[in-house]
Amino acid sequence: MVEATRSIGMFDSGLGGLTVARAVIDLLPHESIVYFGDTARCPYGPRDPEEVRGFALEITDLLVAEEVKLVVVACNSAESTAFYESTGRYRVPIVTVIDPGVKAAVAATRNKRIGLIGTIATVASRAYDRALLRLRDDVVLESRACPAFVDFVEAGDTTSDDLLRTAREYLEPLKEAEIDTLILGCTHYPLLSGVIQYVMGEGVVLISSAEATATEVYARLLDLDLVNRSQGEGTRRFITSGRQDLFDELGRRFLGAELEGVEHRPWPSVPNARAAS
Ligand code: DGL
Repeated sequence: MVEATRSIGMFDSGLGGLTVARAVIDLLPHESIVYFGDTARCPYGPRDPEEVRGFALEITDLLVAEEVKLVVVACNSAESTAFYESTGRYRVPIVTVIDPGVKAAVAATRNKRIGLIGTIATVASRAYDRALLRLRDDVVLESRACPAFVDFVEAGDTTSDDLLRTAREYLEPLKEAEIDTLILGCTHYPLLSGVIQYVMGEGVVLISSAEATATEVYARLLDLDLVNRSQGEGTRRFITSGRQDLFDELGRRFLGAELEGVEHRPWPSVPNARAAS
């Protein structure tokens, strides 16, 4: 029998999933968390889906070996490879980010025109189009890949002129498409919501799946009778495959004081992991 005191495992290619970790900590402060950021191999978005799928399996295996009670795939690019569906190798419950984001967007739109921004991998997979169709067939989805956004976040840049220029270029077609709701379909993007909201204008509702995903985590834990009932604060562990000092500095800026004592776990299977770390 799985004990409720075990940790929740979470992963992303880098710092972006910390937006989901933040929401989980806020909603479920008694839960312990193990977060893995695959910074040495970030970004995932421009990579071949089969490669990303392999990374996602490798990290999920690592979290299962840590005996987590539930895994949160805090990475749209990894989720869009559907790595967890066909393997049959996981008994651990898995919570993902795409469905919660789509549900929140459908609830928010008034003119039935939703925009999606994400990585090349996520947009090309059409995973959001399928998730939307499962809910509604009368809502239009306009998608746009914004690959450079992840690089800005990983470099800690959330306000430069260069970022503003890039955001204008990426988002102009979505403004022309007259969407009234925009899904931030990459967990890095909520960290750029200032510039994205500025460019899109205040009439457009930005949807980050972080809060909706945290609510889904709570619901799954309740269903499985795995909510940690102890009253103390949960423990938090952060592991990176890349540079500890960078993860620590930027992670603290994005997540807050809960981020401390970052561990380093390089991948022996990645030739450039050591060089990057
Ligand atoms: N934060 C991730 C996502 O939600 C991955 C970004 C990347 O590594 O390209 O898609």
